Amino acid sequence: MTFANDTLMRALRREPARHTPVWLMRQAGRYLPEYNVVRARAGSFMALATNPALATEVTLQPLARFPLDAAILFSDILTVPDAMGLGLSFAQGEGPRFARPVRDEAAIAALAVPDMASLRYVFDAVAQIKRALAGSVPLIGFSGSPFTLACYMIEGAGSDDDFTLVRRLAHARPDLMDRLIDVVARSVRAYVREQVAAGADVVMLFDTWGGTLTAPAFERWSLASMRHVLETVPRGVPTIVFSKGAGERLESLAGIGAYAVGLDWTVDLDAARRRVGGRVALQGNLDPAVLLTDPATVERATRAVVAAAGPAPGHVFNLGHGIVPATPPEHVAVLVDTVHRASAVPATP
Ligand code: CP3
Repeated sequence: MTFANDTLMRALRREPARHTPVWLMRQAGRYLPEYNVVRARAGSFMALATNPALATEVTLQPLARFPLDAAILFSDILTVPDAMGLGLSFAQGEGPRFARPVRDEAAIAALAVPDMASLRYVFDAVAQIKRALAGSVPLIGFSGSPFTLACYMIEGAGSDDDFTLVRRLAHARPDLMDRLIDVVARSVRAYVREQVAAGADVVMLFDTWGGTLTAPAFERWSLASMRHVLETVPRGVPTIVFSKGAGERLESLAGIGAYAVGLDWTVDLDAARRRVGGRVALQGNLDPAVLLTDPATVERATRAVVAAAGPAPGHVFNLGHGIVPATPPEHVAVLVDTVHRASAVPATP
């Protein structure tokens, strides 16, 4: 597959590109007025995400506004536990909620890998988005990491105390945690394989909560299961793992078989490039709060991230976490333009 703009594929393979590619986590979301219109029309987040035509429309919205170098499937990581029967809903202005969280041995024993037919709406959206992109830029498919999905499955919602309930289970009943992670990892393997079969060009794993674990628990439940998932992605399909709070574990994350590691904004990108830049590409890591300031500050902070990445190939510009709903879209325009200008390779005379 070739693309009119192959800067993302080149950067993920650590090959020189004409500029640093840029895309943003949650680039299709509530900071865009046109997203809010479509979401209101759909009625709920899940009604939007389960309708391939609307998911395609929303995926393309940020690309119509800004010269981004990649599209990311519009969906959510929690579609997989939903398909496992947990009953997902998103109330307006609140986070996700599961009607049937998984809290005890019986509930874990009852889980099975879902029939991928129940996630058909995701694969249909991938295929439809690919047709609409028509080879312009690559499409990123994604899944939550098995551990991050397990966090929401146990807690039943987000958490304001670093998933204490989940960490308690991991300490009290590591055997149950093993079983839960195992069935979720097998589900995620099937899910990412289907996304690639439907046309996803890149696969990203969101390990948002791996950073809350102790070092041995991180190895056992976060890293090992991601390695297992990455093994199933066809060779030649670039992969990205994003782990929040992973700065200290960068070397471990760089060794699980992904092409690239995504960094949150607390990590020193310059030092990270020296630590693992010879082994993986790095993605990140502007603080999303910068986008809430003013154009001059956005430009200065964006230039600083490009400079910290240095001239070697293998940097994908992104935020250190998802874009904040209060972000003015004009600031995103400044960011994208600044990345392209600050990283452009001058044409050889
Ligand atoms: O990045 C993109 O543009 C692609 C789409 C995408 C969404 N969620 C859309 C979404 C992706 C890749 C995700 C990943 C996701 N979802 C993660 C991992 C990354 C991260 O942010 O740490 C997690 C933990 C979730 C679970 C989730 N989904 C939460 C906690 C919430 C509520 C918080 C919030 O921002 O509202 C969601 C809802 C959600 N997922 C929205 C969007 C655009 C907002 C829902 C709405 O429109 O009401």
